Amino acid sequence: MTSVAVRALNAPATVPGSRVLGVGAYRPARVVTNAEVAGPIDSSDEWIRRRSGIATRRFAAPDDTVVGMAAAASVKALAQAGVAPDAVDTVLLASMSQLEQSPPAAPRVAHRMGARSAGAMDVGAACAGFCHALATADSLIRSGNSRYVVVVGSERMTDIVDPADRGTAFLFGDGAGAMVVGPAEEPGIGPVAWGSEGDRHEAIAHSAPWPAPGTRAGATGSPALRMNGPAVFRWAVATVPRTARAALAAAGLTVADLAAFVPHQANLRIVDGTATALRLPDHVVVARDVVHAGNTSAASVPLAVEELLARGAVPRGGLALLVGFGAGLSHAAQVVALP
Ligand code: UT7
Repeated sequence: MTSVAVRALNAPATVPGSRVLGVGAYRPARVVTNAEVAGPIDSSDEWIRRRSGIATRRFAAPDDTVVGMAAAASVKALAQAGVAPDAVDTVLLASMSQLEQSPPAAPRVAHRMGARSAGAMDVGAACAGFCHALATADSLIRSGNSRYVVVVGSERMTDIVDPADRGTAFLFGDGAGAMVVGPAEEPGIGPVAWGSEGDRHEAIAHSAPWPAPGTRAGATGSPALRMNGPAVFRWAVATVPRTARAALAAAGLTVADLAAFVPHQANLRIVDGTATALRLPDHVVVARDVVHAGNTSAASVPLAVEELLARGAVPRGGLALLVGFGAGLSHAAQVVALP
């Protein structure tokens, strides 16, 4: 009975693996200094650099929308991959700053990049969203359900961060990063190691449900991101090495096999602390895009990968260990071969 049902469902053929074929970034033009964000929170350039490693971040212009930035990054990734937009089967958008609950934003991102027949959906896992979506893309391709998948993280954190909140105002930035993933004879994306701690959901959360668009976050009781920074910091430095080691073990690799370590760019102290905990050999390049991008939530991992590739810091085909983590509390890690 079971075998008849399985045949009738036409399970697609499996393929041996998937790999990243192209990476693209969109960074808003406006560079914002620490001096600019420090005023409303009675902070200083010196404090922000010492506590977070951030020197500058980018803020979106009014017409830099989550959808538009995602499409711009995706178009660049498709060009690098040499994949035509209309060959894309699926678009996965990771974002925590798209202000509409419905409609989902991914269909508009797909349309804007020219992927007119693609299935498209939003993935909600906050700062860990990109790595969750990348794992989903790998599974879709290996199962034979999709051939080409665009995975994109896009954030307009300035819409949800209160410029007067001392715990977050200096930390976050805007931007988008995308990867095109396609089938491969050899696996180019390792198994995901992930998890969540929903009992700790209040550690990073909105202060209230969404109001009308255009209302400034934090003012008049409208929802802004609130974060218990020290608690999240302690959770991150304990969780990132653990989930990173699990992803390495699942892929049958050790730190010696890596070319790069690309954790979510939450804070330079977390980046450097977790790199030290993992005892990375000297040849492993550690992504430090946070210094000039700030924390761009779901966009930070692909943006940091793009930055390493753009300045030739890692060899093409080298292995990168990606780790996303944040609100949820959620985390996900995998090893990928760089395009
Ligand atoms: O992306 C999602 C995941 N997010 C993260 O992983 C972020 C994790 N957390 C962090 O990165 C850090 O907690 C922050 C960068 C947000 C804050 O750094 P911290 O070292 O944890 O600072 P703190 O909140 O413990 O505050 C230390 C001191 C306090 O003063 P006392 O009590 O030592 O006298 C604060 O009042 O710094 C003071 N302070 C500030 N001073 C200047 C707190 N915020 C500020 C500020 N400017 N913005």
